[in-house]
Amino acid sequence: MLNRQDNELLCRVGPGTAMGEMMRRYWHPVCTSAQLPHPDSPPLRVRLLGEDYVAFRDTQGRVGVMEELCMHRGASLALGRVEEGGLRCLYHGWKFDVSGVVLETPNHADPRYRERMKAPAFPVREEGGLVWAYVGPKELQPAFSRYAFMEAEPAHRTVLRINVGCNYLQLVEGGEDSSHVGVLHTNMARPGWKDDEFEPNPDVVNPAALTTNDLEPQLKIEETAFGFQYVALRRIGREGVKNARVVPFIVPYGRVIPASAFQFTVLEVPDDDTHTSTYIIVHGNAPVAQEKIIELLGLDDPRYYDRTTCAFTATWADAFGQNRERMLENWTGLRGVEVEDAAIALSQGPLYDRSKEHLVPADQAVMRVRRVLLDSVRRVMDGKPPVGVGVDLRGVGACDAELEDGGAWQALMPAHREAAAA
Ligand code: FES
Ligand SMILES: [Fe+2]
Repeated sequence: MLNRQDNELLCRVGPGTAMGEMMRRYWHPVCTSAQLPHPDSPPLRVRLLGEDYVAFRDTQGRVGVMEELCMHRGASLALGRVEEGGLRCLYHGWKFDVSGVVLETPNHADPRYRERMKAPAFPVREEGGLVWAYVGPKELQPAFSRYAFMEAEPAHRTVLRINVGCNYLQLVEGGEDSSHVGVLHTNMARPGWKDDEFEPNPDVVNPAALTTNDLEPQLKIEETAFGFQYVALRRIGREGVKNARVVPFIVPYGRVIPASAFQFTVLEVPDDDTHTSTYIIVHGNAPVAQEKIIELLGLDDPRYYDRTTCAFTATWADAFGQNRERMLENWTGLRGVEVEDAAIALSQGPLYDRSKEHLVPADQAVMRVRRVLLDSVRRVMDGKPPVGVGVDLRGVGACDAELEDGGAWQALMPAHREAAAA
């Protein structure tokens, strides 16, 4: 349980809030590369931490991220023309390049005027199929943290974005909650549950495919430079050995979840207090088909996911697509891993009040998420850098392995202890 005050502190991310100030100290994904598919493609409205931006790709393929409203008199640049090396406002034709240089001001053509100005553009990187921006204080811009998926061959990686209408922390907590996997994702985690028989799910791409049906994992947690790592230990029916699933929490909202042949990196980026862009990056040592991942996640029905806008469109209007007749064979009556996770997070409401919950030991990693986020906020308030900012994340991943009782679970992911600021 969390008191109301801490709940508000953790969940509110707009400008001027303590969490918002802490979050602004990191680089954030603002869209996928595929959302700006070619030079001079249409600009994209972007909402991040309660503020509005526009992203565009210029004639040379470079990406710019600027405040959405034109510095002249505030027309949305997302309606603008993208042409000849810049973004041009429709209203009076002012034109800007990706770094904010004012290239033209047709209604006041004297170059001495525009040379004195700079449009509000932000540092941008394009890495791993995502566009990243830094919108925090200029003088505190951190090193860019590289993730393992950025090192993967593009054919061995696929990137998805799903926009979900609830607070980021509900989605983060779901991701750091090992004990829900064997229950909410029962169909994939424990096929055969209906007949009380456990059969492992052979799908090497499915991160909900557990190797055991122990529903009461024992958790162990250790602090790391990027946040923490934890292990969920499950009985597998053999003396002296357990299944160990190691998952990291990367401050402020990242995790990696293991499938047997791929890793799922998930970033729950807050658009504002009640909207989140979930980025799922799947990578491994073999080709991965986006269509297969979309199906696995349950997003292959246009009623529930709009591939153009990336919106998760399931609502209470049809109970998120839940089919009660199907529930005789299917635990949730829902469609797939992400539909199950997103429907649960939405069912908690736009911003859940944690003062009413009742936690158990299986919720320890969830509690730890809150603690490390609150620590990070307090560090920023004290004039210190937030937790894990600028850390090299290339060695950070997840695993699902067997571990002898008493064995050092931390040895399963040795790079987690070595991760340090770049
Ligand atoms: S408002 Fe953009 S050019 Fe005038
Ligand atoms: Fe889940």
